[in-house]
Amino acid sequence: MKVVIVFGTRPEAIKMCPLILQLKKVKQIECIICLTGQHREMLNQIMDFFDIHANYNLNIMRTNQTLTDVTVEVLNKLDPILEKEKPDLLLVHGDTSTSFAASLAGFYRNIIIGHIEAGLRTYDMCAPYPEEFNRQAVDLISTLYFAPTEQSRQNLLKEGKRREDIYVTGNTVIDALSFTVNDSYCNDALDWGKDSRLILLTAHRRENLGEPMRHMFRAIKRVLDEYSDVKVIYPVHKNPKVREVAQEILAGAERIRLIEPLDVVDFHNFMARSYIILTDSGGIQEEAPSLGKPVLVMRDTTERPEGIVAGTLKLVGTTEETIYHELKGLLTNNALYQKMSKAVNPYGDGHASERIKDIILQRFSLE
Ligand code: UD1
Ligand code: UDP
Repeated sequence: MKVVIVFGTRPEAIKMCPLILQLKKVKQIECIICLTGQHREMLNQIMDFFDIHANYNLNIMRTNQTLTDVTVEVLNKLDPILEKEKPDLLLVHGDTSTSFAASLAGFYRNIIIGHIEAGLRTYDMCAPYPEEFNRQAVDLISTLYFAPTEQSRQNLLKEGKRREDIYVTGNTVIDALSFTVNDSYCNDALDWGKDSRLILLTAHRRENLGEPMRHMFRAIKRVLDEYSDVKVIYPVHKNPKVREVAQEILAGAERIRLIEPLDVVDFHNFMARSYIILTDSGGIQEEAPSLGKPVLVMRDTTERPEGIVAGTLKLVGTTEETIYHELKGLLTNNALYQKMSKAVNPYGDGHASERIKDIILQRFSLE
């Protein structure tokens, strides 16, 4: 059988590469990998790390691209490839504009769509934006649902998806961690932070660009001013709109390092060595519990409630006052810190890719 796998951003690549490695082991499966190129540098480093080569790269990235740019470009450039390759199955991941447009292109060609990381929901179309729309839209036109958790399966059932088409597999991001995290890892930036309580910061969501991001950064600066044993490392997303605000508020601040986005192996090991993680990311909410790291999620809502129930994640909103107080609270309340660091990882056992591969073999009678 022929499987076309389409992805284009950093988190999709980190979560799809372990699955591609599994699928490539099966001789009855021909894997065609198509990158949309929604991301460039941030994606290439992951392909290099996993040593995976794409058959196609649509190369669509532009500075300050709009959602329409991404959607239209993917639809136009992917369609001729689907027409030529005529896959038996199209695999997409998660909730990006790449996933939405690629699944739509597949739907228009009557190709069976398998959605990896299906069923995550906030049921708020504005948060995260546009990801909540993307993931619901992909699920509307998918046939196979690879849900990472029981909660995501329940969401799909509630929406009327067929029980026999939903599989709880765990999240492939946990599989990725077994390739990257290494006790003997070292790095100069980590040496800089080693005698302090190190906060690892990321922020990039579209709905947080501008004012909410200013709030986040001002709160962090206030905390740094009060606690001399705290340092911050912030690998700044390549989005120029993120960089502008980071420069405006954080450049030159004491005990904070603004650095380029880290390669996946570096980032996972930085997470493993940090004291607290502050983020608006989705994937980081899934990785942190298995590394035993408390995460303050700078959002009002999350599609990953399992980490909140487990106790590792806490939603702290996007206003300066709440972020400031919650971060200070975690730095001063050792019992809370210990509780958040000891939570159990609810996102998988590191064998999600293997499971997805087996399900595909079974569904296409290739066992
Ligand atoms: C996208 C996804 C988001 C995901 C995030 C992961 C959508 C709508 N958003 O958001 O769900 O959480 O990726 O990081 O699909 N850029 C570069 N080099 C890169 C990558 C980005 O220069 O390697 C710059 C470009 O100027 C680009 C901008 O970042 O226009 C924004 O990229 P885009 O993919 O549109 O949005 P993200 O915020 O990265
Ligand atoms: N990540 C990385 N380098 C960085 C920051 C994050 O490799 O400098 C990884 C992180 O470990 C996680 C993924 O990127 O696996 C999350 O991507 P992002 O936050 O951009 O997107 P989201 O998960 O919010 O869609």
